[in-house]
Amino acid sequence: MSVFLEKIVAALRGPTGLPEQEIRGLIETPRDPQHGEYAFPCFVLAKSLRKGPPAIAKDLAEKLAESEDFTPNPTGAYLNFRIPVRRMAEEVLPLIRQQAEAYGRSEEGKGKTILLDYSHPNIAKPFGIGHLRSTVIGAALRNIFDALGYRTVSINHLGDWGTQFGKMIAAYRRWGDEEALKKDPIEYLYGLNTRFHREAKTDESLDVDGRERFRELEDGKEEALTLWKRFRELSLEEFKRIYHRLGISFDSYAGESFYNKKAEEAVREVEEKGVAKEHEGALVVDLDGLPTCLIRKSDGTTLYLTRDLAAAKYRYETYQFDRLIYVVGAPQKLHFRQLFGLIRKLGYSWWDRCEHVEFGHILGMKTRDGTLIFLEEVLDEARDRALRTMRESVEKRFDLEDEESVAEAVGLGAVIFNDLSGRRIKDVNFDWDRLLSFDGDSGPYLQYAHARMEGILRKCGIEVPDRIDPGLLVEDEAATLLRLLERYPSVLQQAGRNREPSIICRFILDLARAVSVAYPVLRVKDEAAPLAEARLLLLWSVKQVLAAGLRVIGMQPIERM
Ligand code: ARG
Repeated sequence: MSVFLEKIVAALRGPTGLPEQEIRGLIETPRDPQHGEYAFPCFVLAKSLRKGPPAIAKDLAEKLAESEDFTPNPTGAYLNFRIPVRRMAEEVLPLIRQQAEAYGRSEEGKGKTILLDYSHPNIAKPFGIGHLRSTVIGAALRNIFDALGYRTVSINHLGDWGTQFGKMIAAYRRWGDEEALKKDPIEYLYGLNTRFHREAKTDESLDVDGRERFRELEDGKEEALTLWKRFRELSLEEFKRIYHRLGISFDSYAGESFYNKKAEEAVREVEEKGVAKEHEGALVVDLDGLPTCLIRKSDGTTLYLTRDLAAAKYRYETYQFDRLIYVVGAPQKLHFRQLFGLIRKLGYSWWDRCEHVEFGHILGMKTRDGTLIFLEEVLDEARDRALRTMRESVEKRFDLEDEESVAEAVGLGAVIFNDLSGRRIKDVNFDWDRLLSFDGDSGPYLQYAHARMEGILRKCGIEVPDRIDPGLLVEDEAATLLRLLERYPSVLQQAGRNREPSIICRFILDLARAVSVAYPVLRVKDEAAPLAEARLLLLWSVKQVLAAGLRVIGMQPIERM
């Protein structure tokens, strides 16, 4: 929690008559930094006070007790607050010195549990680029909520059940080749799947066969289950290899198959509560303002939606979550509205703790065969391209001891940052040159900024001090950095509140840019000790916060490159 923000919130309590929690939620960061560090929007009081916001801003400013920590400054509908630079240096730098990369973490979520459902690829298919966004957004949100003190549970709701596995089994029984499966399981299964769909266009017996095999699965027939289990294990091995590479882990892999039996119980509950009706042999539920939803097919098998209903109930019973967040692309919006509507209709008060965090598409990626882009190939290519750029750099700015592993981190970081840097609801452009550029708004730019800071700190020849004279940090460049550092705890909070990792991305870009402008001005080497020490502590603090921000969004800060 930002020290100064807390003081401003406390000061506003009396004059506004609002509870602190509400004030905290209302306070914004002024778009123009000239206006101050924080802003209170006065139009929220306009109705109750029957006064124009600008007049309210002036009134509030007069009513606020004088403080050495901020100067209130009414500007239009806002009451802005400016914090003296010296006070920021006095409070923030010692705090960062003490907490290092833990600076900004808070306990706002203490005692609360957030479940995050993300990544969730489908088995017997390669991990495609389509599941990249859910994976990196979900992982970043998890880190953000961890930093805010919540108990988080990450769940990988694998797509490991459904009619498509009946098809897989049917295909394997017809054309299956044990040796080929062993050699390259996922590619092979994917090929079988493609063949099934191609041939099913002209051969109707295939789909019939597929449906029967799925029936067998649902009935727990040994032979079908054994095959399915094998497909699942082979796929999971591949997925885990990718998660390891991305530095991501899950608390649970309970996917759709886990809810297979539970889904049948859920169907029974829907029937017993009398909210469903029969329609041409199937079971359906009418929801207000939404298309009718299918709960059980006429052949008696369950559906994606039913399994999700069972999953939500199971999760509530198991974790008593305060929030259940589904990080899933915007095309499934209707699915989640139906799911939440269904939970509500069944009378569960926790229906409104469920939330769909949606995101846009990835654009501009060419497919190999018009179907699926393999994430692993994308990550490999990112690494290879990063390595090439570093080796061919004309300025020879990279001093690499361990090129391969640096290139891997730069490549992954580039892909991750490209995915997270814009607002999640927007589509993402996948443009190799832009995403791997060392000069743009990119992952490599940030990695390089971090490594460069590390180098400067290493070579400055003095130790990071515990205490400094804050009055020595007088330059505008220092003030800009202090302002950013002061804001970081609220940036984390805001990112959590809006479920928006891009807020952190924008912040660390600002920080990296500000520090690169500041180097020539805030020289450490060859300066007298007190000044050198004050600047060093400032730069060291920037590095801590930059590293912390990178880690939160899932990037690995590189020490040397
Ligand atoms: N496996 C699904 C897909 O690839 C996404 C699952 C999302 N999570 C959920 N609980 N429905 O589309």
